[in-house]
Amino acid sequence: MGIIAIYPGTFDPITNGHSDIIARASQLFDQVIVAVAASTAKNTAFSTDERVELAQQVLVQHGNVEVQRFEGLLAHFVRACGAKAVLRGLRAVSDFEYEFQLAGMNKRLVPEADTIFMPTTEHYSYVSSSLIREIASLGGDVKEFVHPIVNAALVERVGKRINASKP
Ligand code: COA
Repeated sequence: MGIIAIYPGTFDPITNGHSDIIARASQLFDQVIVAVAASTAKNTAFSTDERVELAQQVLVQHGNVEVQRFEGLLAHFVRACGAKAVLRGLRAVSDFEYEFQLAGMNKRLVPEADTIFMPTTEHYSYVSSSLIREIASLGGDVKEFVHPIVNAALVERVGKRINASKP
């Protein structure tokens, strides 16, 4: 069956930073499952189905990458998939404390899987989904940081919101 890695996140929306990690991981693992969190404390701009669909469209060229939504605990999803690795990207030292806590807790909940950290390519080290949404909503250009499909979805979604709030 091979080694399965789970790459979990909110992906609201998927950015080139995420895609970069996924492309590199797809060379290392037999299968990468991009796990889109349905239950999130974050107030998302895109619904779970939309986040899944955008990720699917962006990642379509990777034969061993699939996108799935998950509800509830990540640990349960990891176990249900029979995954051996949980993949997380590290952008800066500031990510580390939270990520280390998450990894420790997940190890307790699902001991058969380990968290693997991958450094983000420098060019994307300052990219985050909320910054991308904010820039797009204020009329800024985010083409450099997201796939054209995501760019179009952002312009549609947050662009409309801004225009609607204009007097
Ligand atoms: N490139 C660009 N941006 C990146 C990135 C990369 N390589 N890696 C992370 N980010 C950004 C994300 O866009 C996100 O930005 P935002 O905060 O502006 O939205 C931020 O870094 C971190 O988010 P993300 O990687 O999406 O993870 P998350 O913190 O939103 O999600 C879950 C964390 C979903 C994995 C976690 O909450 C979870 O497991 N939830 C399920 C419930 C559970 O099991 N809880 C117990 C955990 S022990």
